[in-house]
Amino acid sequence: MKKITIAIDGFSSCGKSTMAKDLAKEIGYIYVDTGAMYRSVTLFALRNNLFDADGNINIEELEKLMPEIKISFKFNPSTGRPDTYLNGELVEKEIRTLEVSNHVSPIATIPFVRKALVAQQQQMGKEKGIVMDGRDIGTTVFPDAELKIYVTASPEVRAQRRYDELQAKGMPANYEDILKNVQERDYIDTHREVSPLKKAEDALELDNSHMTITEQKQWLIEAFKKVAK
Ligand code: DC
Repeated sequence: MKKITIAIDGFSSCGKSTMAKDLAKEIGYIYVDTGAMYRSVTLFALRNNLFDADGNINIEELEKLMPEIKISFKFNPSTGRPDTYLNGELVEKEIRTLEVSNHVSPIATIPFVRKALVAQQQQMGKEKGIVMDGRDIGTTVFPDAELKIYVTASPEVRAQRRYDELQAKGMPANYEDILKNVQERDYIDTHREVSPLKKAEDALELDNSHMTITEQKQWLIEAFKKVAK
């Protein structure tokens, strides 16, 4: 079976990472969560006090420090999924907090941040055999990907899923705050100037609002089998 590139794009908290991870595991492909990369840059900016009290970013300082930001992934055999490392430190938990979620969208609108991360992502996918998820994978990172999926679900369903996720991890969560965060991020993600979230013309659309994880997984495997013959 030939190796292909699989691009999975969609709104935040629509379950695309879960689908992408499970698919990669099932077919023996590498999985890359590009949202984790934007989140890692955000965590770095927060830790270096690059946000003021109004949430404005010190762009000049971030640009200067950008070469110091090294993001990598290491497969975790106990979870069967890759963990995110920022300059050698395991940050998988730190990048999922509401504080990072609340600051990540403006970071993802900065052209030099996108340019640096897209270049790293293209490098990771050079050999194919990769499942990458994000917002601009099918449109910008891998416009020639053999299989592109565009995932959607209603904001309320997505907020509930994120709420459940945080609760399960014992992290503080408030449904209304999360819904507001989801809606704000949808707006920024679809309206920003550089690589806004949009469906690639040749992407298959999947609305998973009323699908179980197992149903999504089956749908995805079928889509993969049709392309990677
Ligand atoms: O998928 P996520 O919620 O972890 O993504 C975090 C943020 O990063 C989200 O606001 C959009 C942004 N992002 C992006 O702009 N481009 C990507 N390829 C992936 C994520």
